[in-house]
Formats: sequence, C-alpha cells, structure tokens
Amino acid sequence: MKQHVAPFGDGTVVLRLMEEKDLETILTWRNRDEARIWFKNSGKITFDAHLAWFRSYLQKEDDFFFLVESDGEPVGQCGIYDINNGSAEIGRFLVAPKMAGKGYIGRSCAEIIRFSTGFLNLSYLFLEVMEENAKAIRVYKRQGFVEESRQDGLIRMALGRDRAS
Ligand SMILES: CC(C)(COP(=O)(O)OP(=O)(O)OC[C@H]1O[C@@H](n2cnc3c(N)ncnc32)[C@H](O)[C@@H]1OP(=O)(O)O)[C@@H](O)C(=O)NCCC(=O)NCCS
Repeated sequence: MKQHVAPFGDGTVVLRLMEEKDLETILTWRNRDEARIWFKNSGKITFDAHLAWFRSYLQKEDDFFFLVESDGEPVGQCGIYDINNGSAEIGRFLVAPKMAGKGYIGRSCAEIIRFSTGFLNLSYLFLEVMEENAKAIRVYKRQGFVEESRQDGLIRMALGRDRAS
C-alpha cells in the first residue's frame, strides 16, 4: 500500500496526492490534442482505462502522482515513479489549459526535486522528453536537468550523482 504523503509546496503551488475524484478533470487535460501528443502513449484514453490505471497505481509503493493546486484551484499534475535504490523517474507533467505559462510547472518540478531528496532521500532523478517538446525541455533545464542521452526522438535528462561534474 502506498505511503501517505502530506501536501507540500512553496507557497504558490501545493502538491497533494491524486484522488479518484480528480480523475475526470485531469483526463480532460490529458486528452486534448495539444497535450496528448507529448506523451509516449499519445492516444486518447477512456475514463474506464484511466480509472483502471489509477487503481493499479494506488497499489504501488514506488509511485507518487500529484495534483498541483494554486489558490485552491487545480493547475496541473506531475509524478515521481520507479523509485528504487536511490533513484527515480519524474514525469506526467501537464498544465491545466488556462494555467499555462504561469510558472506552475516549473515550480512543481522544483518541489518534486525537493521531495525526492528531502523525503525520499534519492540522489538521482531522470526523465524522458520528446526532443521536439521545447517547452518541457526548457522547464527541465531551468531546474538543472541536463541531457544524458537521446534515442529515437526521446531525450533522457538527469539530475544528480551520475551527472555531477
Ligand atoms: C510542458 C508543460 C507542462 C509546461 O507547462 P507551462 O505552464 O508552460 O510551464 P511553466 O509556465 O512553468 O514554464 C514555461 C516555461 O517555458 C517557456 N516557454 C513558453 N513557451 C515556450 C516555447 N514555445 N518554447 C520554449 N519555451 C517556452 C516559458 O517562458 C517558461 O519559461 P521561463 O520559466 O523561463 O519563463 C505544458 O506545456 C504542458 O502541459 N504540455 C503538454 C504535456 C507535456 O508536454 N508534458 C511533458 C511531457 S515530458
């Protein structure tokens, strides 16, 4: 069973664990053409498939999926998963349609990094992003991620021990 994590944030964004009641909202964000094309599984997702995925996520101990709120409003989502042996992947970054470009996702990325070191004691984080996703890459670079490798249109970026130079 998943460990409970209390909401955390920086005063502008609050990250709290995703709940079933949030799924309809985030699925609407996710299924927009301009959003879904940036995910590896880029097809539209049905609510039933989304719910099934979420219920299996709830059983995982190595995966935390967050709703990002600001002033009590949902503004985005993000996650950290495959937490293992001091490392993890971050991703599932998605901004709510009317909240883009306000810095909420950059702040969320910074909070996930803080959570990964302060709460999970991780020393290495990585992510994968499509090489044409300039907006996302810019956010990640600003948070200190650097390219580690690239293959088949996907860039792997990392932060942490194996990147220290
Ligand atoms: C990637 C995504 C989450 C970023 O959300 P956002 O609301 O734009 O993020 P922020 O407002 O925190 O940061 C945006 C940054 O990108 C910059 N930016 C905006 N448009 C840009 C563009 N076309 N090209 C490059 N940078 C751009 C902004 O200036 C800002 O940079 P700054 O912090 O230096 O000012 C959002 O575009 C999204 O949901 N995309 C669809 C899903 C997705 O791609 N997820 C990531 C999968 S790896």
